[in-house]
Amino acid sequence: MKQTIFITRKLPEEVIQPLREKFTVRMWEEEEIEVPVDVLKKEVQQADALWTTISDQITKEIMTSAPNLKVIANLAVGFNNIDVEAAKELGITVTNTPDVLTETTADLAFALLLASARRITEAERVLRDGKWTSWAPMQLTGMDVFGATLGIIGMGRIGEAAAKRAKGFDMNVLYYNRTRKLEAEEKYGFSYAELDSLLQQSDFVLIFAPLTEETKNMIAKRELGLMKKTAILLNVARGGIVNEQDLYDALKNGDIWGAGLDVFETEPVPLNHPLLTLPNVTVLPHIGSASIQTRLAMMKMNQKAIMDVLEGRVPKNVVI
Ligand code: DGY
Repeated sequence: MKQTIFITRKLPEEVIQPLREKFTVRMWEEEEIEVPVDVLKKEVQQADALWTTISDQITKEIMTSAPNLKVIANLAVGFNNIDVEAAKELGITVTNTPDVLTETTADLAFALLLASARRITEAERVLRDGKWTSWAPMQLTGMDVFGATLGIIGMGRIGEAAAKRAKGFDMNVLYYNRTRKLEAEEKYGFSYAELDSLLQQSDFVLIFAPLTEETKNMIAKRELGLMKKTAILLNVARGGIVNEQDLYDALKNGDIWGAGLDVFETEPVPLNHPLLTLPNVTVLPHIGSASIQTRLAMMKMNQKAIMDVLEGRVPKNVVI
């Protein structure tokens, strides 16, 4: 009997065709609607492999109802949506899709940085809403990016790619990371700073750290209070790293100048979220890796990881 793969989101046929040739592929046939938990629970009962996205919460309960499950391939570099400890305990391999999305995510981080600094989305709204009545001396004035200090929290592959871009803008780059990156420091000319010092010195603070117990609420009232009043906070990592209530207060009270957010604690972010009422916040719907080339490359990696495990090979990107 063929092994079964359950895919939690509708994917392009070209991506699943090679899997269909060897396995039984079952798929949630919606592209923009999450698979309901009861459907997921039912489907995993017969699944040998599970293809997930970051919107699927893969708990121990889900895994224990899947007696044949050998691999969970997550279509993302982050895997905080999966209880990896439970997977380990149950002998289920978990894979992710690093590297292929590094440059694309760094591009988006920079797009968000520039958009926040120069009020791009706000300016477009002004024009479209018919509020552009005349050129005005201080209208929609923002913050300069060139020559500013950029503080990167989480200097992994994506952090390094963003730091390289910052050099093109003559920015002074600081970083905070669990471990020092001495080779990269030398190669790209950025400097290590402790978190508080980075927050105090930076004009832009860009978060790339993964969401873990250690990084949850890492940026809250105290940390926001250390930042410059002219500074902009950018989060393209995971929502839970920044305390959203504290960020709202800091933006509202003018403790910091602005924020750019591609990620939220709850996604999709509810439209009545207080942060969405502020003009000094630029928001995006979690599109860090969303280029056609990169998303297809990520899908290829997932496809390969599943084939490897189901055919008895060790896949490349095992997170646990
Ligand atoms: C990731 O890969 O973790 C992104 O956040 C999803 O594109």
